[in-house]
This record gives sequence, structure tokens and C-alpha cells, in this order.
Amino acid sequence: MKFFIDTANLAQIKEAHDLGILDGVTTNPSLMAKEGIKGEDAVMQHYLTICELVDGDVSAEVLSTSVDEIIEEGKKLAAIHPNIVVKVPMIKDGVKALKWFSDNGIKTNCTLVFSAGQAILAAKAGANYVSPFIGRIDDSNWDGVELIKQIAQIYKIQGYKTEILSASIRSPLHIVKCAEAGSDVITSPLEPILGLLKHPLTDLGLAKFLEDAKKMRTELATAK
Ligand code: G3P
Repeated sequence: MKFFIDTANLAQIKEAHDLGILDGVTTNPSLMAKEGIKGEDAVMQHYLTICELVDGDVSAEVLSTSVDEIIEEGKKLAAIHPNIVVKVPMIKDGVKALKWFSDNGIKTNCTLVFSAGQAILAAKAGANYVSPFIGRIDDSNWDGVELIKQIAQIYKIQGYKTEILSASIRSPLHIVKCAEAGSDVITSPLEPILGLLKHPLTDLGLAKFLEDAKKMRTELATAK
């Protein structure tokens, strides 16, 4: 399973990259706004900076909602860097645009997916990635991980090549459950990724090993 970080924050992208496990980045208009990135030029420059930091796919979301405008915007985003993946919302014009991008060699990520039916449409339209928002599904009293399992089963049976990119991750357990459910990729904020490191027995065990090693060194020194 590939690990993408879901942020436009350069320090956090760098921290995940330095860990050596980062395969890509996803952003959305809310995440760009959170970093204070405003205006077309600043947005384009920010995507380029991210692409130069990370050697992997970087999703850049279109803001348009009509097919012609999505295509024009997507072409501009794709021209920034070969690793840009155009992120397109799951709406009727988005599906038409996904097909156009697929026919014209531009990589896509179909976003705002909340059902298996939407995931089937995204695959049929040739999206490279489909992004089900599992945290937001949990928020609405459904089970986001169950949707990942269902999509994984459908894609396997049907032989769809679209990769399942589980998004709206809220916890380390979400990441583990997505791996178990057959997700190809997760995109997560930094905190849940770092949360995977944590276990109290690791900390206790390391403290004991270090204490015993110190004793061993002291005993060796006094024996000399
Ligand atoms: O990638 C989609 C993600 O950014 C949405 O996450 O936490 O706003 O539901 P969240």
C-alpha cells in the first residue's frame, strides 16, 4: 500500500518524506487555503515546490465544475510537472472530463467519492485513482472502511485498473484497516502516519534495553 500525505504544508510534507516512506501528496482547495496560498500564480508555484520536494504523484484539484473548464484547468495543472495528477470531483461533468483526460494521457484522481456506484463510474471513466472519503462516511454514521472493502471486491471481480486511494483518514487505525481492506493507497495527515509508530511496550522495552546496556558497559569497565 502506498502512503500519500494529505496536506499542502511544506514542513509536514518534508517530515513525512524524511521518514523515507512517502509515495506522494494529495491536496484540496481547503488544504491550500489553510496554508494561505491565494491566486493562480501562487497556487501553481506551490504545486511545483511540492513536486520538487517529493518524487511521486501530487494531486492538484480543479476548481471548475463544467466539463470544458475542468479540461482547460486540468491541462494547465498537468503542465506544471509530470507528477501532477488532476483531481476531479465526482459530478456528471467531472466524469466526462475524466474520460477526456484518460483518452489524452493525463493522470486523474476522482475525488469526493462516497459510494460503490460512484467508484464504478470513476473506474469506467478511466480515473487512475478513486478517493473515497472514509472519515466523512464515519461522521455520517456509516462505515468508511466497509466501503473500501466493497470497492476493492468490485474492482477485483471486474478487473478495473483504477487504484483505491482511501482519503479523509483520521487515525492510525484507519490506515491499518484500509490496508486490511485492500486499499492501494492511503492519503493521511501527518499525525495518523506518525501515530503508527507508537506503542507503549516499544517505549518500555527500549528503556529496559538501554538501561541493561548501560549496566553491561559499566560492568565491563570495572572488570578491566
Ligand atoms: O483527501 C480528502 C481529505 O482531505 C478530506 O479529509 O478530514 O477533511 O474529511 P477531511
